[in-house]
Amino acid sequence: MHIGVVGAGYVGLITSLAFAHMENHVICMDNDIKKINQLNKGVPTIFEEDLESLLHECLDNKNIVFTNDLQETVNQSDILFIAVGTPPNDDGGVDMTQINEVICQLSKFIHDYKIIINKSTVPVGTQKYIKELLVQKGVSEKNFDVVSNPEFLREGKAIFDFLHGDKIVIGSDSQKLKEILEKLYAPFHIEMIFTTPETAELIKYASNAFLSTKISFINEIANLCNKVGADIDTISYALGLDKRISPQFLKAGIGFGGSCFPKDTKALIKIAKTHGCDLKIVKSAVAVNEDQRILPIHILLDHYGDIKGKTISVLGLTFKANTDDIRESPSLYIIHELIKRGVTVQTYDPIASDEVKKIFPHIKYCSNVYDSLTNSICAIICTDWQEFYNLNLTLLKEKMQVPMIIDGRNIFKLEKVKENRIIYYSVGNGSLKS
Ligand code: UDX
Repeated sequence: MHIGVVGAGYVGLITSLAFAHMENHVICMDNDIKKINQLNKGVPTIFEEDLESLLHECLDNKNIVFTNDLQETVNQSDILFIAVGTPPNDDGGVDMTQINEVICQLSKFIHDYKIIINKSTVPVGTQKYIKELLVQKGVSEKNFDVVSNPEFLREGKAIFDFLHGDKIVIGSDSQKLKEILEKLYAPFHIEMIFTTPETAELIKYASNAFLSTKISFINEIANLCNKVGADIDTISYALGLDKRISPQFLKAGIGFGGSCFPKDTKALIKIAKTHGCDLKIVKSAVAVNEDQRILPIHILLDHYGDIKGKTISVLGLTFKANTDDIRESPSLYIIHELIKRGVTVQTYDPIASDEVKKIFPHIKYCSNVYDSLTNSICAIICTDWQEFYNLNLTLLKEKMQVPMIIDGRNIFKLEKVKENRIIYYSVGNGSLKS
């Protein structure tokens, strides 16, 4: 099939490559000419597992081309995916500027039938809104259908998730599309759910809100474990054995970050509010997370009383391992709180320091983890990078002024830190206070 994808960001690029991999002809469009040139040369623009080899495969097989020409993209495509950014507004709502711009631009070039598939995360009712906007801009109703087709991709595992996902959700009010979309997605062998556009749009939000709630729930139980001396990993394991619960997303820590969960939970609350619904559970999941991401600050203050003028190490800056994304990362909130309290902050991250430098230019960025520990009174582990699992605790003790770890991702076992006589706080797996 001939597929156009508008937006070569994270979702657009992965969508383009996945369909090109399945031997479709894909033209992927973005306004950013630098990005387009880079992709046409086979150079990845985002940090993502297996991206480089897939990009090379698709370029070598001539199944994909990157362009900044929207008209050409429309002309060459029967199906047009929209995958542009829908960042949060200041009030937690969704900024639809990019969607509006793309639809207005598209309307100039649609002269025969196109299927327009929206992949961006948008408020419920957007499919209807896009249809109305196209008609308003003069596009004949017989020349298009609009479909909602949300994505459920995890950063770092996005290619795997696209090729081996649990579900494909199609929201459409047109019966004739079913056959075409079944054919388009058939090579993936993934269960397809055909439903109304509103249901499809809400599945995306409900999915992210449910997973966020699961994380906040386990974090609350972990905080209780800290008080009563119970062990959260064992509790998570036991809960996960119950098939009704499932073991996924039960890892306690310093909360969720990233480009989706924080933004989508807030947007869902706002969408519900405009319809007169108060989503109490989702609101609580957000509130718990806001507290949880600065849990290390509370632990530090309880332990030391005053931390002014001290040196503290922040290990890991990204919101999770195996991504270069720092959006809504708990580390940023922790650094902010530390600076506010007059602490000298030393950080280490294997890949994301340059991005964080733009936000916090005056803290110290180290090129290896041990340098970031020099003279420090506490190391706060914010990201579950594999190299932190292998930290040499003898070396850590030599470097630090006080050997103390706040393990925000529950990387260490209590026995291991006990052997090394390190002051240690986990999130629900016990502590060693002296
Ligand atoms: C998420 C969804 O998983 C994906 O389906 C959606 O399309 C986009 O949002 P992503 O943001 O890439 O994907 O990250 P994910 O792996 O889901 O983790 C989100 C956050 O939750 C991270 O900060 C992670 O550290 C945290 N998390 C996850 C936990 O604290 N505990 C867990 O058990 C799982």
